[in-house]
Amino acid sequence: MGFTSRRDFLKSTGLLTAGMALTGRAKIFGASASDKVVKIGMVGTGARGTSLLATLTGVKNIEIKALCDINKNALSAATRLVEQRLDQKPDEYSGDEHAYKKLMARDDLDAVIIATPWEWHTPMAVYCMNAGKYAGVEVPSSLTIDECWELVNTSEETGVPCMMLENWSFRRDNLAVLNMIRQGLFGQIVHSHCAHSHDCIDHWFFDAATGKDRWPAKYLLDYNRDQYPTHSVGPVYSWMDIGCGDYLDSLTSTATLSAGINDYFKHKFGPDHPGAKREYAQGDIVTTTIKTKKGKTIIVNYDMQLPRPYDNRWMIQGTRGLYDECHKSVYLADHSPGYHQWEPFAPYQNAFEHKWWQQEFQGGHGGTDFLTLKTFIDAVRDQTQTPLDVYDAVLMSCLVPLSGKSIKEDSKPVKVPDFTRGKWKTREPYFAIDNRKFKLPGSAEAQVITENGMPTQAFNLGKGKLEVKLPDVSVSLVGNPSQFSGWPGIGGTPTHCLYGNDWGIDISVPRNSSGVISVYAYDFEGQRKQSVTFEDRKADKLESFSKGTWLEYPFTKADSKDGKLRLRLKNLGTGNSVLSKLKISISNDA
Ligand SMILES: NC(=O)c1ccc[n+]([C@@H]2O[C@H](COP(=O)([O-])OP(=O)(O)OC[C@H]3O[C@@H](n4cnc5c(N)ncnc54)[C@H](O)[C@@H]3O)[C@@H](O)[C@H]2O)c1
Repeated sequence: MGFTSRRDFLKSTGLLTAGMALTGRAKIFGASASDKVVKIGMVGTGARGTSLLATLTGVKNIEIKALCDINKNALSAATRLVEQRLDQKPDEYSGDEHAYKKLMARDDLDAVIIATPWEWHTPMAVYCMNAGKYAGVEVPSSLTIDECWELVNTSEETGVPCMMLENWSFRRDNLAVLNMIRQGLFGQIVHSHCAHSHDCIDHWFFDAATGKDRWPAKYLLDYNRDQYPTHSVGPVYSWMDIGCGDYLDSLTSTATLSAGINDYFKHKFGPDHPGAKREYAQGDIVTTTIKTKKGKTIIVNYDMQLPRPYDNRWMIQGTRGLYDECHKSVYLADHSPGYHQWEPFAPYQNAFEHKWWQQEFQGGHGGTDFLTLKTFIDAVRDQTQTPLDVYDAVLMSCLVPLSGKSIKEDSKPVKVPDFTRGKWKTREPYFAIDNRKFKLPGSAEAQVITENGMPTQAFNLGKGKLEVKLPDVSVSLVGNPSQFSGWPGIGGTPTHCLYGNDWGIDISVPRNSSGVISVYAYDFEGQRKQSVTFEDRKADKLESFSKGTWLEYPFTKADSKDGKLRLRLKNLGTGNSVLSKLKISISNDA
């Protein structure tokens, strides 16, 4: 594609009318219309730019035509990377802060990826769209409400799409959750929680070795707000149809005191380091509560300056259940075996795997960056709307200025402008549509999943016939235990189980195999005692578990030399021995 002018580009792409540009949607991954080579420029070849570039080199049918950075060393390192990986020689643009304009004015580019500091995102993306090239801009796309409008207005007026490269919307687990939500498993969605909990003080805001300010540090000195909300809310907006069926109405934000940055400097560089003494406007944790037009709520935490492991604390809750990323669990009132008991998310992720993720990807963030870039480039190639559009970009980014405004005004509610000008009411959900039929794990069909690197099958005991799918494995019950299904589950009792006085499970496995047998055992009602014995080993005595506990029995090749394993259950007082779940994992090297 080589357009001689912006007008030619718009004419040839059919995007001259804004309305058209914003209704056509990118096709599902893998359905790109052709193998046409997409020609790309990149502005900002620092840490993120280089990582995106490295991931991009794995995308087929692209040409990296031009790179721009004000830092010549960063620029030549990026050029070398492209030369080595793609055997292409991009032209370099540098010299001053506006060199990007020359790159964007070229008539042989289809798209430009922008990975510069925050203050450049909107000016560069606007320039890019005005030059007739798809803009792929890093997060957040905008820092002020005026910038949000500038981005929307430019995309609408030029008909050129702008995608903010919010990668967490594309994460494998988040897309499986999206499929579950669209299948109605959580009922009507009501509430969500999300966070960007990522300590970036010790390497990103400040230089790790010297403590000197890097470019983002000035934002901590001058502003108190959620500086980086897009990773938190990206998936949540798609879960909640924000911008296409529902919309953000208002928000309130509250910040804690600012103590973490001073404390970090004191500990790492000593109390006399300037970083330990000066005042930062930014509070350590910001909590924003958003109310949507349809009455849902979202709690968003900014948490980037206290020492802690990374997480996003995604949770989505509806009238029939919830997903919790921290627990890696789900609870579905209509399907989960235990009353008010978590189930592991892994089997659900397998069962509701998004079609985009039915292959493994190389590249940053476990392949998520590859998928983000691939879907962006497919849209450029097909000349369709990008999977996340300009409204998504500004709706995620507007939390930066709006949280700042609310904090400044003592947590007063702040209205969210309607960047779609009412279109949210009629727009249909469009992101990552996957209309295939899905089956619940272990219901209609027993499933073998991979757990801890081993093929694993989980069984709900007491819920009908045991259907074994693991090859060369069979399960039989000894001693005629009774089945129970449908208990109310009050006080931690199981809703289904096998129970009896003296019974067992015989499991045939391949000879000389190794693996793990796990059972979920109850000391029923917490009043009696039962023991579980695996093979002839010492018995596990359950004395006070009223809610059940997982017992794990690894077995070795020696244990299975005759291919037979036995689990025995005895009560040690009165009453029954109760098991509600069984899990068998067999190592691949059996
Ligand atoms: N999506 C993600 O997971 C993710 C991860 C990290 C960073 N980011 C985003 O990527 C962006 C870049 O962050 P980074 O960590 O790579 O920073 P960085 O400082 O490593 O890189 C920024 C680069 O931009 C260059 N630059 C600055 N002004 C320029 C201009 N006017 N013209 C051309 N080049 C210019 C700098 O010289 C530098 O090389 C930020 O917006 C950040 O929020 C996103």
